[in-house]
Amino acid sequence: MRLDKFLAHTAEMTRQQAQRAVRGGMVCVNDVVTKQAAQLLCDTDVVTLNGSVLQAVQPRYFMLHKPMGYVCANSDGHHPVVLDLLREPRRDSLQVVGRLDIDTTGLVLLTDDGQWNHRVTAPTSHCKKSYCVQLAEPLPVGAEKQLCDGVQLDGEKKLTKPAQLFSLDNERLQVRLVINEGKYHQVKRMFAAVGNRVVGLYRESIGNVVLDAALAVGEYRALTPEEVAGI
Ligand code: URA
Repeated sequence: MRLDKFLAHTAEMTRQQAQRAVRGGMVCVNDVVTKQAAQLLCDTDVVTLNGSVLQAVQPRYFMLHKPMGYVCANSDGHHPVVLDLLREPRRDSLQVVGRLDIDTTGLVLLTDDGQWNHRVTAPTSHCKKSYCVQLAEPLPVGAEKQLCDGVQLDGEKKLTKPAQLFSLDNERLQVRLVINEGKYHQVKRMFAAVGNRVVGLYRESIGNVVLDAALAVGEYRALTPEEVAGI
Protein backbone atom coordinates (compact mmCIF):
# COMPACT_ATOMS: atom_id res chain seq x y z
CA MET A 1 0.00 0.00 0.00
CA ARG A 2 1.13 3.57 -0.68
CA LEU A 3 2.40 5.49 2.35
CA ASP A 4 -0.18 8.31 2.03
CA LYS A 5 -3.01 5.75 1.78
CA PHE A 6 -1.69 3.91 4.83
CA LEU A 7 -1.56 7.20 6.78
CA ALA A 8 -5.08 8.10 5.70
CA HIS A 9 -6.34 4.70 6.94
CA THR A 10 -4.46 4.49 10.20
CA ALA A 11 -4.29 8.13 11.34
CA GLU A 12 -7.76 9.14 10.10
CA MET A 13 -6.32 11.81 7.80
CA THR A 14 -7.36 12.82 4.33
CA ARG A 15 -4.92 11.89 1.57
CA GLN A 16 -3.93 15.58 1.34
CA GLN A 17 -3.23 15.85 5.08
CA ALA A 18 -1.16 12.68 4.82
CA GLN A 19 0.88 14.08 1.93
CA ARG A 20 1.45 17.32 3.88
CA ALA A 21 2.62 15.35 6.92
CA VAL A 22 5.08 13.43 4.76
CA ARG A 23 6.38 16.60 3.08
CA GLY A 24 6.70 18.18 6.53
CA GLY A 25 9.08 15.43 7.67
CA MET A 26 6.67 14.10 10.31
CA VAL A 27 6.69 10.55 8.97
CA CYS A 28 9.38 7.85 9.32
CA VAL A 29 9.49 4.43 7.70
CA ASN A 30 11.75 2.07 9.66
CA ASP A 31 13.20 5.02 11.62
CA VAL A 32 14.15 6.95 8.48
CA VAL A 33 12.35 10.19 7.59
CA THR A 34 10.76 9.90 4.17
CA LYS A 35 9.45 12.66 1.90
CA GLN A 36 7.90 10.24 -0.61
CA ALA A 37 4.13 10.05 -0.09
CA ALA A 38 3.91 7.51 -2.91
CA GLN A 39 6.43 5.16 -1.27
CA LEU A 40 5.16 1.58 -1.32
CA LEU A 41 5.08 -0.20 2.04
CA CYS A 42 5.51 -3.88 2.72
CA ASP A 43 3.95 -5.79 5.64
CA THR A 44 7.03 -5.55 7.86
CA ASP A 45 7.61 -1.78 7.49
CA VAL A 46 7.16 0.25 10.70
CA VAL A 47 5.64 3.68 10.12
CA THR A 48 5.70 6.45 12.71
CA LEU A 49 3.92 9.80 12.72
CA ASN A 50 5.55 12.34 15.04
CA GLY A 51 7.31 9.46 16.75
CA SER A 52 4.17 7.32 17.38
CA VAL A 53 3.97 3.93 15.70
CA LEU A 54 0.91 3.53 13.47
CA GLN A 55 -0.74 0.13 13.55
CA ALA A 56 -2.20 -1.22 10.33
CA VAL A 57 -5.98 -1.22 10.51
CA GLN A 58 -7.51 -4.66 10.10
CA PRO A 59 -10.08 -4.95 7.33
CA ARG A 60 -13.66 -5.17 8.54
CA TYR A 61 -16.52 -7.36 7.29
CA PHE A 62 -20.17 -7.05 8.33
CA MET A 63 -23.55 -8.57 7.54
CA LEU A 64 -26.60 -6.32 7.82
CA HIS A 65 -30.31 -7.15 7.80
CA LYS A 66 -31.37 -4.42 5.36
CA PRO A 67 -34.74 -2.78 6.00
CA MET A 68 -37.10 -1.59 3.29
CA GLY A 69 -36.56 2.05 2.25
CA TYR A 70 -32.76 2.14 2.67
CA VAL A 71 -30.45 2.75 -0.27
CA CYS A 72 -27.29 0.67 -0.76
CA ALA A 73 -24.97 3.65 -1.27
CA ASN A 74 -22.59 5.73 0.81
CA SER A 75 -24.85 8.77 0.56
CA ASP A 76 -28.17 9.72 -0.99
CA GLY A 77 -29.94 13.06 -1.16
CA HIS A 78 -33.43 11.65 -0.57
CA HIS A 79 -33.35 8.40 1.40
CA PRO A 80 -31.50 6.91 4.37
CA VAL A 81 -28.53 4.74 3.38
CA VAL A 82 -27.49 1.38 4.83
CA LEU A 83 -24.32 2.93 6.28
CA ASP A 84 -26.54 5.02 8.59
CA LEU A 85 -27.34 1.77 10.43
CA LEU A 86 -23.71 1.03 11.34
CA ARG A 87 -22.28 2.44 14.55
CA GLU A 88 -18.64 2.06 13.54
CA PRO A 89 -15.64 4.38 13.27
CA ARG A 90 -14.45 5.30 9.76
CA ARG A 91 -17.88 4.36 8.39
CA ASP A 92 -17.24 6.09 5.08
CA SER A 93 -14.50 3.65 4.18
CA LEU A 94 -17.03 0.78 4.20
CA GLN A 95 -18.52 -0.29 0.88
CA VAL A 96 -21.60 -2.33 0.10
CA VAL A 97 -20.74 -5.72 -1.44
CA GLY A 98 -23.42 -6.20 -4.10
CA ARG A 99 -26.30 -3.74 -3.87
CA LEU A 100 -29.96 -4.39 -3.16
CA ASP A 101 -32.78 -2.20 -4.44
CA ILE A 102 -34.40 0.27 -2.05
CA ASP A 103 -37.47 -2.00 -1.69
CA THR A 104 -35.46 -5.25 -1.27
CA THR A 105 -34.76 -6.51 2.25
CA GLY A 106 -32.37 -9.09 3.69
CA LEU A 107 -28.66 -9.79 3.56
CA VAL A 108 -26.23 -6.99 2.74
CA LEU A 109 -22.48 -7.42 3.18
CA LEU A 110 -20.22 -4.44 3.89
CA THR A 111 -16.44 -4.26 3.97
CA ASP A 112 -13.47 -1.94 3.63
CA ASP A 113 -11.47 -4.73 1.96
CA GLY A 114 -11.65 -3.79 -1.71
CA GLN A 115 -10.09 -7.02 -2.93
CA TRP A 116 -12.58 -9.17 -1.02
CA ASN A 117 -15.42 -7.03 -2.34
CA HIS A 118 -14.16 -7.60 -5.86
CA ARG A 119 -13.79 -11.35 -5.29
CA VAL A 120 -17.43 -11.61 -4.20
CA THR A 121 -18.94 -9.35 -6.85
CA ALA A 122 -16.79 -9.92 -9.95
CA PRO A 123 -18.82 -11.61 -12.71
CA THR A 124 -16.09 -14.26 -12.94
CA SER A 125 -16.56 -15.26 -9.27
CA HIS A 126 -19.97 -16.92 -9.95
CA CYS A 127 -20.88 -16.39 -6.30
CA LYS A 128 -24.35 -17.86 -5.54
CA LYS A 129 -27.07 -15.56 -4.22
CA SER A 130 -30.35 -16.88 -2.87
CA TYR A 131 -33.54 -14.78 -2.88
CA CYS A 132 -37.06 -15.33 -1.53
CA VAL A 133 -39.41 -13.87 -4.08
CA GLN A 134 -43.05 -12.91 -3.64
CA LEU A 135 -44.83 -12.88 -7.00
CA ALA A 136 -47.90 -11.03 -8.27
CA GLU A 137 -49.10 -14.09 -10.24
CA PRO A 138 -48.75 -17.84 -9.61
CA LEU A 139 -45.71 -19.18 -11.47
CA PRO A 140 -46.61 -21.72 -14.19
CA VAL A 141 -44.42 -24.83 -14.42
CA GLY A 142 -43.30 -23.80 -17.93
CA ALA A 143 -42.02 -20.45 -16.64
CA GLU A 144 -40.08 -22.26 -13.91
CA LYS A 145 -38.20 -24.27 -16.54
CA GLN A 146 -37.50 -21.14 -18.59
CA LEU A 147 -36.09 -19.33 -15.53
CA CYS A 148 -33.86 -22.29 -14.68
CA ASP A 149 -32.57 -22.70 -18.22
CA GLY A 150 -32.03 -18.97 -18.87
CA VAL A 151 -34.22 -16.09 -19.98
CA GLN A 152 -33.58 -13.06 -22.16
CA LEU A 153 -33.57 -9.92 -20.02
CA ASP A 154 -34.80 -6.70 -21.55
CA GLY A 155 -31.82 -4.99 -23.20
CA GLU A 156 -29.42 -7.95 -22.85
CA LYS A 157 -28.02 -10.08 -25.68
CA LYS A 158 -27.21 -13.25 -23.75
CA LEU A 159 -29.57 -15.46 -21.77
CA THR A 160 -29.24 -15.48 -17.99
CA LYS A 161 -27.04 -18.25 -16.60
CA PRO A 162 -28.71 -21.46 -15.35
CA ALA A 163 -30.53 -20.84 -12.06
CA GLN A 164 -32.30 -22.94 -9.44
CA LEU A 165 -35.88 -22.36 -8.44
CA PHE A 166 -37.93 -23.89 -5.60
CA SER A 167 -41.59 -23.29 -4.91
CA LEU A 168 -42.22 -22.29 -1.28
CA ASP A 169 -46.03 -22.49 -1.18
CA ASN A 170 -48.89 -24.37 -2.81
CA GLU A 171 -50.15 -21.30 -4.67
CA ARG A 172 -46.71 -20.89 -6.38
CA LEU A 173 -46.67 -17.23 -5.37
CA GLN A 174 -43.57 -17.56 -3.23
CA VAL A 175 -40.38 -19.02 -4.65
CA ARG A 176 -36.69 -19.27 -3.83
CA LEU A 177 -34.42 -18.30 -6.72
CA VAL A 178 -30.70 -19.04 -6.64
CA ILE A 179 -28.55 -17.24 -9.21
CA ASN A 180 -24.83 -16.91 -9.68
CA GLU A 181 -24.65 -13.60 -11.49
CA GLY A 182 -25.67 -10.10 -10.48
CA LYS A 183 -27.04 -7.98 -13.29
CA TYR A 184 -28.88 -4.73 -12.53
CA HIS A 185 -32.36 -5.57 -11.08
CA GLN A 186 -31.69 -9.13 -12.18
CA VAL A 187 -34.37 -10.94 -10.19
CA LYS A 188 -37.13 -8.48 -11.04
CA ARG A 189 -36.13 -8.53 -14.71
CA MET A 190 -36.02 -12.35 -14.79
CA PHE A 191 -39.61 -12.61 -13.60
CA ALA A 192 -40.66 -9.77 -15.90
CA ALA A 193 -39.16 -11.81 -18.77
CA VAL A 194 -41.71 -14.59 -18.07
CA GLY A 195 -44.64 -12.17 -17.74
CA ASN A 196 -44.74 -12.00 -13.93
CA ARG A 197 -43.95 -9.26 -11.40
CA VAL A 198 -41.95 -9.29 -8.17
CA VAL A 199 -43.91 -7.72 -5.31
CA GLY A 200 -41.51 -8.67 -2.50
CA LEU A 201 -37.83 -9.54 -2.54
CA TYR A 202 -35.60 -10.74 0.29
CA ARG A 203 -31.96 -11.90 -0.02
CA GLU A 204 -31.19 -14.90 2.19
CA SER A 205 -27.57 -15.66 1.39
CA ILE A 206 -24.46 -14.81 -0.60
CA GLY A 207 -22.08 -17.72 -1.14
CA ASN A 208 -21.88 -19.56 2.19
CA VAL A 209 -22.96 -16.50 4.22
CA VAL A 210 -26.57 -16.86 5.35
CA LEU A 211 -28.37 -13.93 6.98
CA ASP A 212 -28.22 -14.59 10.73
CA ALA A 213 -31.76 -15.28 11.99
CA ALA A 214 -30.82 -13.53 15.26
CA LEU A 215 -30.46 -10.19 13.47
CA ALA A 216 -33.63 -8.13 13.56
CA VAL A 217 -34.35 -5.81 10.64
CA GLY A 218 -31.77 -3.00 10.74
CA GLU A 219 -29.28 -4.93 12.92
CA TYR A 220 -25.81 -6.04 11.88
CA ARG A 221 -22.86 -8.08 13.11
CA ALA A 222 -19.25 -8.76 12.12
CA LEU A 223 -18.68 -11.78 9.89
CA THR A 224 -16.80 -14.66 11.48
CA PRO A 225 -13.33 -15.47 10.04
CA GLU A 226 -14.87 -18.66 8.58
CA GLU A 227 -17.56 -16.67 6.79
CA VAL A 228 -14.96 -14.25 5.41
CA ALA A 229 -12.66 -17.05 4.24
CA GLY A 230 -15.41 -19.29 2.88
CA ILE A 231 -17.16 -16.92 0.54
N1 URA B 1 -32.39 -8.40 -8.09
C1 URA B 1 -33.27 -7.38 -8.09
O1 URA B 1 -34.05 -7.22 -9.00
N2 URA B 1 -33.24 -6.54 -7.04
C2 URA B 1 -32.40 -6.69 -5.98
O2 URA B 1 -32.45 -5.89 -5.04
C3 URA B 1 -31.51 -7.77 -6.01
C4 URA B 1 -31.51 -8.60 -7.09
